[in-house]
Amino acid sequence: MRYVDVHGVKLSAIGLGTWQFGSKEWNYGSSYEEKESAAIVHKALDLGVNVIDTAEAYGWGRSERAVGRAIVSRRDEAFIATKVFPVMPVEPVIKDRARRSASRLGVQSIDLYQIHWPNPVIPLNLTMRAMASLQRSDLVKNIGVSNFSLALWQQAERFLSGKVLSNQVRYNLLDRRIENNVLPWAEETGHVVIAYSPLAQGVLSGRYSRGNIPTGLRAYTAAFQPENLDKAIPVIDALKRIALEHGATPTQVALAWLISKPNVVVIPGASSISQLQANVESAQLDLTDEDISELNDVSSIYKLSSGLTDQLTRAARAGQLLASRTLKRYIRPVKSAW
Ligand SMILES: NC(=O)c1ccc[n+]([C@@H]2O[C@H](COP(=O)([O-])OP(=O)(O)OC[C@H]3O[C@@H](n4cnc5c(N)ncnc54)[C@H](OP(=O)(O)O)[C@@H]3O)[C@@H](O)[C@H]2O)c1
Repeated sequence: MRYVDVHGVKLSAIGLGTWQFGSKEWNYGSSYEEKESAAIVHKALDLGVNVIDTAEAYGWGRSERAVGRAIVSRRDEAFIATKVFPVMPVEPVIKDRARRSASRLGVQSIDLYQIHWPNPVIPLNLTMRAMASLQRSDLVKNIGVSNFSLALWQQAERFLSGKVLSNQVRYNLLDRRIENNVLPWAEETGHVVIAYSPLAQGVLSGRYSRGNIPTGLRAYTAAFQPENLDKAIPVIDALKRIALEHGATPTQVALAWLISKPNVVVIPGASSISQLQANVESAQLDLTDEDISELNDVSSIYKLSSGLTDQLTRAARAGQLLASRTLKRYIRPVKSAW
């Protein structure tokens, strides 16, 4: 295993994402939640993975509980990262949420406590005050954010008056937006980018195509819409070609491309032990400069068309607009009548 070492914190470059544990969105069933998830965590620890990522929102606590059951007696081998769902991220609420997460995980202290999303209403300084207090109390070792822009990440750090170690963001060959400023800043300043959906939720495995998509939430996401699966073909073909040269799989090449960058930790989810094992092995894969520039070139052409979720949002916005225009039309004559 390769490790990213920042300010004395040692993180495996390949971690394990556990949204899949007990979450209806993934449809993996009860035997996966009760048995396979623990076996996946154990195998990950055996292979030198320490970063295990979960969140209170995953299966509404079921993922944290599954992780907790799995790390009993192996607590010291794991770096447990969880997230607060920031509905009302102010001090008493955050402290309560953190205590509940720690209890579900069965740990005295959470290694990395992350704010899952920015809250558009509650001022960030209130949230960071709560995070600082948790850190002082030792319930939380390190603070992180997720889905934060660079400006917000920097602001969070100013409010904390300390290091906001990481920003967990979507990063994969089909979504490279964070390369604009988040990633360069992390590299320059010794922060960590935790790449979620590093396999674009399985699209980059090359297993899915128009007419063959997984069940569950993924069927409704933009990346799995037929036109976007078609657009991903050149990227997947490049992954396959490079994989063949290295005796690897497309998935392994996609992960190796990500961790070829300093300060990037990936947290792929896995639906089986063999997937987890294959993902971990990608840490041994050294891509050549030519491989990397081929992947850079082919992926820079990919542009996601908005999927069903975006279409619904757009339809809702269009509906709002129509309603407000209609209202104005009716209000104007009333006003002029006054
Ligand atoms: N902070 C956030 O807002 C946020 C958002 C999303 C995710 N996350 C975190 O990031 C983690 C990973 O992201 P993700 O689960 O969205 O997507 P991902 O890791 O890109 O995709 C995971 C899926 O890819 C497939 N896969 C994994 N390894 C494979 C292999 N070796 N060969 C073939 N297929 C393989 C599996 O699905 P199938 O076998 O069913 O195809 C697996 O469930 C999550 O578990 C969660 O911890 C965080």
